[in-house]
Amino acid sequence: MTDQATAPESGTAGIPGKPTSASRTTLSHIMTHNDTNLLGTVHGGVIMKLVDDAAGAVAGRHSGGPAVTAFMDEMAFLEPVRVGDLVHVKAQVNWTGRTSMEVGVRVLAERWNESAPATQVGSAYLVFAAVDADGKPRPVPQVLPETDRDRRRNQEAQIRRTHRLSRRRAITELRERRAAEGFED
Ligand SMILES: CC(C)(COP(=O)(O)OP(=O)(O)OC[C@H]1O[C@@H](n2cnc3c(N)ncnc32)[C@H](O)[C@@H]1OP(=O)(O)O)[C@@H](O)C(=O)NCCC(=O)NCCS
Repeated sequence: MTDQATAPESGTAGIPGKPTSASRTTLSHIMTHNDTNLLGTVHGGVIMKLVDDAAGAVAGRHSGGPAVTAFMDEMAFLEPVRVGDLVHVKAQVNWTGRTSMEVGVRVLAERWNESAPATQVGSAYLVFAAVDADGKPRPVPQVLPETDRDRRRNQEAQIRRTHRLSRRRAITELRERRAAEGFED
């Protein structure tokens, strides 16, 4: 079934849109003993670095220039990764605003000692802001979802965007209220 494409939250007039597939990227890496934690499995921070690298490559390709990580949420570690596993980090732009993009990332592991299909071991959503040479946000092309799955991801990304903004607003309001009441925490 084909969903109706959802309108972007804000337009990026004058910049042609880009399909999701134009920037979709997979980064693959074999895990070594340098990547382990005290338990001998792969350190979560190693996976987070790969996630940020893959998402950054996607954000740079989509926006046609530098992009910085503004926010990272819902980093889920579903299964341990082991030394020798071949890890594939798959990333794509789910949603675009005026100057920001949400990149969705799935982490898969091919077990070094099994010939089974790759197992999903993690996922994350990152917000990147495209920036100019002075580090100031610059407009990005609207992402054009191509498949039903892309459209579902686009709609889910808008829900996360709404929640991020309302959570940030609620916390700011709480802090302002407490400051006005004389709290110095
Ligand atoms: C990200 C950064 C460029 C935002 O700059 P800013 O002056 O706050 O600019 P804005 O408020 O206009 O935000 C730019 C865009 O990012 C989005 N954004 C910024 N912070 C966000 C957050 N915490 N959650 C979600 N979106 C966020 C804004 O909504 C806006 O998107 P839009 O234009 O599509 O609506 C700036 O905070 C920065 O340079 N941060 C450091 C980034 C970095 O160095 N990352 C690497 C980690 S070491």
